[in-house]
Parts: sequence; C-alpha cells; structure tokens
Amino acid sequence: MLKNSKIIWNKARKIIPGGNGLLSKRPERFLPNGWPIYFSKSKGVFIWDLNNKKYTDMSIMGIGTSVLGYNNSYINNYVKKNIDLGINTTLNCIEEFKLAKELLRIDKFADQVKFARGGGEAMSLAVRIARSKTKKSKVLFCGYHGWHDWYLAANLKNINHLNNHLLKKLKPLGVPKELKNSAIPFNPNDINKLIKLTRKNDVAAIVVEPSRFSYLDEKFVKKLNQLCINKKIILIIDEITSGWRECLGGVYKKIGLKPSIVVYGKALGNGYAISALIGKKKIMDIAQDTFISSTAWTERVGFSAALAVIKYHKKHKVFDHNIKMGKIIRNGIIKIAKKNNIKISVNEIDTIVSFNFLYDKKNEYLNTLFTELMLKKNFLASNLIYVSYFHTESVIKKYLINVDKVFFEISESLKNDKKILRSKIRSYNYKRN
Ligand SMILES: Cc1ncc(COP(=O)(O)O)c(C=O)c1O
Repeated sequence: MLKNSKIIWNKARKIIPGGNGLLSKRPERFLPNGWPIYFSKSKGVFIWDLNNKKYTDMSIMGIGTSVLGYNNSYINNYVKKNIDLGINTTLNCIEEFKLAKELLRIDKFADQVKFARGGGEAMSLAVRIARSKTKKSKVLFCGYHGWHDWYLAANLKNINHLNNHLLKKLKPLGVPKELKNSAIPFNPNDINKLIKLTRKNDVAAIVVEPSRFSYLDEKFVKKLNQLCINKKIILIIDEITSGWRECLGGVYKKIGLKPSIVVYGKALGNGYAISALIGKKKIMDIAQDTFISSTAWTERVGFSAALAVIKYHKKHKVFDHNIKMGKIIRNGIIKIAKKNNIKISVNEIDTIVSFNFLYDKKNEYLNTLFTELMLKKNFLASNLIYVSYFHTESVIKKYLINVDKVFFEISESLKNDKKILRSKIRSYNYKRN
C-alpha cells in the first residue's frame, strides 16, 4: 500500500511539536502540498521517498551537511568499523584526540579544540568562553547562530532585531528578561554601526558568518580585525554553514579574517553529528574555569565521521569539483532565465547557489511554483542549492534541461497572467499550525 507522507506528517505534528526538530526540513518551507517529506534511503544526490520514488536533490542537501553526498560509503565504512568496537565506554575514545590534532594541522592559528555535536550548541560554548575570558557579557553579531538563549536574547529589546538574521518578529519566549541588551545585531559590512556599538558597550565578542549568500567585504574584514585587536574583543567566526565547502576548514582564511575562535558543524561530519570550536590556548583554556561538559560529546561516531571526512577530502578534489559544478549551475540558471525572459538575481558563492525571482509580491508564489513543477520532474528543487561531490556534470545537465522546461512554463503563465500553482504558497515564517 502506498504511504501517504502528508497523513504521517499530520500525525507527527500531534506528537512532535512542529512535526520534527528542524524548521528547515518542514514541508511548508518548500511545498506545503505535495512535498515527499520523508525519505526511506539515499545515495549520492538521490533520495527515495517512503514509496520508493527516486528524486534528485537539487536543493539544500541535508541543509548543507552533505558536501560528500548522502550515504557516502567511505565515511560509513570508517564509522561502522568503530561502531563495531563500541562507541561509548567508561574510557575515552582516541578519535577525540586524533580529530583535535587533525583540525589543529588545518587551522594553524589555533592551539586548542573543543567538541560538541550540534552547531548552535558549539556557538553557545564559544560565547560562554568569550564571556568567561573577558568577564564581559555583551555580544555583537550578524547572521544566524542557533536557537540558544544568548542569541535569541537580541529580540528582548526589539522584536525586529532578528528580522534580517533569522526570522521576522520572532518572540523571544522563554529567554530570561535579564538578558536584554546582552546580544546586539548589526548588518553585514556595516562597520560604522559596529564601531558605534563597541563605543557604547563593553563587548566580550563579535560573532560573524564569513559568508552566507555573499562574502564579507574586504574593507569590512580589515577594519573588523583591527577593531577586535584594538579593543581586545574576541572574534568568533561561525563557519557552521560556510566551512568545509570551499577548502579544508573555513573560508575565514580566504577572506582574511583573523579569528580568536572558529566554529564548525554540518559538513565537518557530512551528516553525522559533530561540531568543533577551535581557538588560541590563551582564550580556550578558560573552558576549564567555567563548567562545559556533556556525555554525548565523548561518543565515538561523530569524531570518526569527521576523521573520515578529512581523509576523504585529502584523497579527492572535492572543493575544486564543487566550485566548478556550482559555477555551471549558476551560469546555467542565468542563461536559462534570460532565454525565457524570467527576471532573477543570483548570488556570488559557488558552492551555495541561490537565485531570487524579481517579481515583488509574486516571489514566494514563483518559488513555490518552481519547486512544484520541478518535483513533477522528480527533482527536489528550490531556489537554494548546496553543491555536493555527487552533483556530476551529467546530473547537472539533466537538471538544467528541466529548469529550462520549468522556466518556460513559468514564463508562459506570467505572460498570460495565469495562476498555475496547485499547492499553497510556501511559508518562511515560523508558524505554530
Ligand atoms: C551559520 C550557522 N550557525 C549556527 C547554526 C546552527 O547549527 P545547528 O542547526 O547544527 O544547531 C546554523 C544552522 O543552520 C548556521 O547556518
């Protein structure tokens, strides 16, 4: 009997608030009606739904985790060997030490590493360390950094503070009022605002993502480095999404950021849970004076997966491949849009390609329509594509042929002012429903 994923999802929402643990995998964010929702198996860039229907993933690739493709046998075999030897005992596993050594070879500026499993969790550690070290509490940030209190505290003062970084009008429910003014946002590249904020506040840390849809400006980076040195502010670089995508470690190296602490997650484990923060000894050592400790941080699977990921990168030219494929995807989309008279803008990052329709109020309608029409052609597609090593030229060729067909349909519907979307429009807002 065919399984109806929507029925299962509706049941799941009754017993799991929101249906799952991650906003970004909820069907309402892609295609409220018709998205396959659940997978049964995966390989490379292919995903099979509960009815064994096969799709090619040209969207978020496990929300950016799977740079080395889904179900990568090399990583799995390495991990499985250690699973068979036991993953959690009274004694420590040697992989924690091995991974720390490996990361310190890659991040030369640093002398110490601490591990966690989630990205937001590692960011919380980084902020705790910065506050402990400086004995100050204020954190200035731009970008998204997880679900924890230190970050959501930004909205205690003004419910719009996280609008440009996370979600519009997010209520900081459950975050202690006492944290008001402890986390203050600024927009990427706005050095003047940042300098003003450092004059008005006694700042422990500045937290940035080096890139999201574009890189931080060179000028901004230089001034930010200097500001942190002059004011003895701890500079935390969140590479949870940007890291392990273009080079071993983070893009901070590429754009000249001078970090105090770098934080990795997502692609470091290629889908296995592992996150790391890496920094100078004089800062990291304070972790011993505050209490930072968790049982799950010593299990063996996450470390093993990350060690295998690094080995895989050293054997294969993943970054060169992904950058090349990203350029093919981006240039292909631009060309096809032009051909079909569709107005779009495209971002500058090669390994995370994103495009936006330029039709004001119709944009979300068109994004949903794009996903709906591509799904009919067996692609999981959105306007955001995380490139993986298994996005081969032949996969991309097929994808672009289908984007061409779909853009033609969209263009015709726009010309004739005809609404052809069957699903409800996708929603990027956090909803309780
Ligand atoms: C830049 C950045 N920081 C932090 C996080 C939170 O990581 P996690 O979802 O693993 O807690 C994310 C997740 O998307 C991210 O992109």
